[in-house]
Amino acid sequence: MRLAHVSDLHLLSLSGVKLSEFLNKRWLGGVNLLFNRGHSYRHEIFDALVDDLNEQRVDHVLCTGDLTNLALKPEFRFARERFDRIALGPQGVTCIPGNHDRYVRSSERMFEEFFAPYCTSDAGTSWESWPVLRVRGELAIIGLSTGKPSPWLMAYGRVGAEQLARLEHFLRDLRLKDKFRMVLLHHPPLGRAAGEFHRGLRDRRELLAVLERAGAELVLHGHEHLDLRAEHVGPLGTRIPVHGIQSGSYGGHAAQRLARYRIYRIEPQPGRRPVLAHATLRAWDAARGKFLGEGGSG
Ligand SMILES: [Fe+2]
Ligand SMILES: [Fe+2]
Repeated sequence: MRLAHVSDLHLLSLSGVKLSEFLNKRWLGGVNLLFNRGHSYRHEIFDALVDDLNEQRVDHVLCTGDLTNLALKPEFRFARERFDRIALGPQGVTCIPGNHDRYVRSSERMFEEFFAPYCTSDAGTSWESWPVLRVRGELAIIGLSTGKPSPWLMAYGRVGAEQLARLEHFLRDLRLKDKFRMVLLHHPPLGRAAGEFHRGLRDRRELLAVLERAGAELVLHGHEHLDLRAEHVGPLGTRIPVHGIQSGSYGGHAAQRLARYRIYRIEPQPGRRPVLAHATLRAWDAARGKFLGEGGSG
């Protein structure tokens, strides 16, 4: 089974946006966007990523949030159109929200409004109850929502006691005992960035404690726009890989941030959970206008 991890597309569309929608935190974000971010995060690059994904024939796509910039309706509409180009369709693509998708209080439910087919649990439980749980073959995907509307200049996240309890319940569920359990969240739970006051994960310790007790096979996150690879210790000394990835649309000057996505291969094991067998990066090549494998291979 092959899985792709993409993140932080920050897809921009301001068509039809009213000035009144900027009379809040968006004002600052809007200025940053027009002078800075808008030039570096380009939807054409994400379109090329989707073309590449469709060619790579992965079994499932996982997206860890920040699909938009200011959580405006035209941005969500635009992002949805771009995601609908993925050949697998919403059943084969799981998306969770990032802090930019929950930018202000008035946009708190907009992610679910536009992306419901991409984040609905199998059991039909609505997005009212994060985390979502989707089982696909040997895979159990648990998607958390950590993005919160936060004060100006803040981008922190929080899982919250209710989601933590549900997460532990899912991780311990005996019906998932042969599944490869993946936890998706936008904010990194480990490393220096996780502890930052203004953009870290406020209850990371509580989340890490759940992972220590209940275990997981892979944790994926976004938010930092970097290829971050860490590990956390699960039950009985097992190792839980915790991976972040670059933005899937960045075409600016910072080489280490250039658009990438990762493909994982999961292999079944007789009588026990599948294992992570292989991971490979695919990176944007501006000169060729397409995504290529590590070392420039097609
Ligand atoms: Fe982001
Ligand atoms: Fe973020």
